[in-house]
Amino acid sequence: MPKPFEPGEWIVLIASDPPRRWIARIGEKFSTAAGVFDLQELVGQLPGSPVTSHLGHRLFAFRPTAADWVMHLVKRQTQITYPKEMGYILVRAGVGPGARVIESGSGSGASTLLFALAVGDTGHVYSYEQRPEFSHLAQQNVAQAGVAHRVTFKVKDIAEGFDERDADVVFLDVREPWRYLEQAVTALASGGTLVVLVPTTNQVSETLRALPSLPLIDTEVLELLLRHYKLNPDRLRPEDRMVAHTAFLLFARKCAL
Ligand SMILES: C[S@@+](CC[C@H](N)C(=O)[O-])C[C@H]1O[C@@H](n2cnc3c(N)ncnc32)[C@H](O)[C@@H]1O
Repeated sequence: MPKPFEPGEWIVLIASDPPRRWIARIGEKFSTAAGVFDLQELVGQLPGSPVTSHLGHRLFAFRPTAADWVMHLVKRQTQITYPKEMGYILVRAGVGPGARVIESGSGSGASTLLFALAVGDTGHVYSYEQRPEFSHLAQQNVAQAGVAHRVTFKVKDIAEGFDERDADVVFLDVREPWRYLEQAVTALASGGTLVVLVPTTNQVSETLRALPSLPLIDTEVLELLLRHYKLNPDRLRPEDRMVAHTAFLLFARKCAL
């Protein structure tokens, strides 16, 4: 049975026609061109409940999913890792409750937040960033979602290495990942997974060139394409425009050599 909404909760408000969504907080004033909505009315209501504006327009309220947090709540000052890539990273690298994840850089904290939501209270995320202002931003974004206790933020150049050992996953989202592969492998547990995310194929090539000297196998390079469809059942076809490129992913697993 889902829990009813409580005062102060973050919610996603969804309009169906035209489709739009907003993130808001119960208790704060919320208005759009469709009027002023008294979100306090949602306290005690179940997710999926409607709220009506003073002009008679209806929105429906839901609890934010991990993707909602990242796309609508995280303040961005860097490129972020999108739910499209993070969803696959989580299942491919086996990140679930109890996992220990190291990542760099923290950037805006989007990947940090998604890892923190996935590892639960029994796991932990160690997030490294060399620029204090980005580390601070990432901390704020993670705290808003209520999972700050699952993350340790470190302001450090990862060229100096990671402080932890036996991590289940090391995720590198930095410009020159090939420079830090030894540090990543040292921090990984035997059997753990290295994940690299980069925007260009040149960076993938540099990373691939650096791999043979390391105890890594099961290497995979891929990209993920996400194509939305127009919702007309009689003329079902893809949207004319798509975000055709976000990032390339490289996975490899550490073996005991
Ligand atoms: C694209 S952003 C990471 C975005 C993050 N994954 C997110 O989803 O919000 C890359 C970050 O890596 C940091 N970075 C680059 N090289 C680094 C290094 N050697 N050590 C630590 N951080 C580094 C940069 O300062 C930048 O903030």
